[in-house]
Amino acid sequence: MSIDFDPHIQSSREDPYPLFRELREKHPIVYSEARDMWVVSRYADVRTVLCDAELFVSGRGTVPTGFTSQKPMLITQDEPYHTHLRGALHGAFTPRRVRLLEPLIRRVTRELLDAMDPKAECDFMSAFADPLPVAIVTDILGLGFEDRDEFRSHADVLIHASSNAIESVDEAQEWIYDYVKRILPEREKAPGDDLLSALLNPAEGVPKLTPDELLGFCSILLIAGTETTANGFGNAVYVLHSHPDLRRQLVQDPSRMKGAVEEFLRLESPVPGLSRVASRDTELAGEKIEKGSRVHMLFAAANRDEAIFADPETIVPERSPNSHFAFGFGVHYCLASSLARLELQIGLQEILARFPDFELVPERWQRIESDAARGFVSLPFRPNPL
Ligand code: HEM
Repeated sequence: MSIDFDPHIQSSREDPYPLFRELREKHPIVYSEARDMWVVSRYADVRTVLCDAELFVSGRGTVPTGFTSQKPMLITQDEPYHTHLRGALHGAFTPRRVRLLEPLIRRVTRELLDAMDPKAECDFMSAFADPLPVAIVTDILGLGFEDRDEFRSHADVLIHASSNAIESVDEAQEWIYDYVKRILPEREKAPGDDLLSALLNPAEGVPKLTPDELLGFCSILLIAGTETTANGFGNAVYVLHSHPDLRRQLVQDPSRMKGAVEEFLRLESPVPGLSRVASRDTELAGEKIEKGSRVHMLFAAANRDEAIFADPETIVPERSPNSHFAFGFGVHYCLASSLARLELQIGLQEILARFPDFELVPERWQRIESDAARGFVSLPFRPNPL
């Protein structure tokens, strides 16, 4: 069936979930005239697409516009090159490496909370959610401290690309490429304890990345690793605001935060959907899909599918299993999900310990409009009630 469904418009709705339920129940596959693509919403169909990376490819972009970057980025590669690239990056976010980042995450979190005036309203996104993941990624890459502010301003343009002019996005991308190109020879000569140095000097048996591949990797860390996590924070704070009982329980027992984070990601997924292109004629959910057609997967709808999640609208931190698609599934599963989870757990625990009664101002918050992101542009935050 054909329906006027556009993920871009849905992302900014306060409550798109009743429509997602209707799609799941009555129209599990629809053709969107507006975007020239098929849209699937049931868990089982999303899983089918994610599990067959040879039939449903990423190389022609994973967002509805089909955007791909100039440098080889992991996320938009297919076999066999994807396996080669992922193999080279395998060691980047091992549990050991991620655990070592815990003190840094806690320190940056506390610094950002210290900088908030407890009695004054601020914008949660610019005061906390945006800067935390950028600080962590720049540290992982080992960028010089003195360059961080300039780096961040260019990264911000890339990260918020949907709201910027194309020229400034290209300019920002070039600046970052030039910056990384400049520091690569230094790192090769005098390796440090950072990820770039590790990738330039791989362990035996691990493929070495070319300079272009390293540039692509740095960009993807900035694009895939920062806005997503920032939106994870904004969405979690929004859920806590609308569930005061849950908030009280988490203040009393912070050890439940780990499970709560999974539920925030499931219920308000920062990446509500991504797409693939069919590499040959096939059938999906009873419809014929022609070779070259785009198929968009509504993760945010599948994550509330009652066929998989009992009582899906309720937040149950102890839910087990909790196999949501917030980080995807299959060969492209988020490379740094363990890092994102740790940032969210530590950040939210620290926020609740410091400001258990924080308030948001729904009349003035502004949601992102995007094909592939759900979150807030701005989120007025009062650390203590006025
Ligand atoms: C809450 C935060 C995050 C969310 C919701 C998220 C979500 C996702 C999703 C859905 C995918 C799958 C893409 C696909 O199937 O096409 C993905 C892949 C990826 N993510 Fe994340 N991500 C987050 C944080 C991060 C962070 C912190 C980093 C790195 C610092 C990162 C790096 C990547 C990379 C490199 C890929 C590509 C993997 C591949 O194609 O093999 N992500 N992420």
